[in-house]
Amino acid sequence: MNNTIETILSRRSIRAYENKQIPEPDLKAIIECAIHAPSSRNKQEWHLTVITNKERIDEINRLAIEGMTRLGLEIEKDSHIFYHAPCVIVLSSKIAGFSEINIGCMVENIALAAKSLGYGSCVIGQTRYLYHKANKIDVDRILKIPEGYEHDISICLGVPKGNEPEAKPRRERVVDYIY
Ligand SMILES: Cc1cc2nc3c(=O)[nH]c(=O)nc-3n(C[C@H](O)[C@H](O)[C@H](O)COP(=O)(O)O)c2cc1C
Repeated sequence: MNNTIETILSRRSIRAYENKQIPEPDLKAIIECAIHAPSSRNKQEWHLTVITNKERIDEINRLAIEGMTRLGLEIEKDSHIFYHAPCVIVLSSKIAGFSEINIGCMVENIALAAKSLGYGSCVIGQTRYLYHKANKIDVDRILKIPEGYEHDISICLGVPKGNEPEAKPRRERVVDYIY
């Protein structure tokens, strides 16, 4: 086992955070890892919006919850889609072949870089519900998504609060080998 494998195997989705910001140098290192993800034909047609302002994060949470309510989804009282994490990174890409896969590579780089520095993270698909609350132009403006780009996924980050959860069991028999 080496450090990289250990980081991959010990990463968990973290859903409780300390009220403590990620220091700038660590955040910069995480972003550097994000943009070093592979991308189809090395187009790098992606965009990151890094949000460390609590009021902004709460506002985005509120809009997403309103979008979920509009869709009739059941939401627990006082739930927060980012689990009150101090940092949220919103990822978007120019729609083209493999764009979501490129963003998938990027978001995992973020999760693993964060984990290696002692932070927890959780990939958040629920930011897509913002588009059920407000129109695309307004949401893209709030999230600073460039023209021609589409929001894909978000990830929240911070210092984990309490014990880290156990690893969720992985499905077996998902691999075939051809020798
Ligand atoms: C595309 C994607 C979207 C996700 N969206 C959410 C989400 O909105 N909220 C959440 O709490 N977890 C979300 N997750 C985290 C998954 O629930 C989590 O990865 C899964 O349960 C496995 O747990 P682990 O990450 O601890 O191994 C998402 C994960 C992925 C890959």
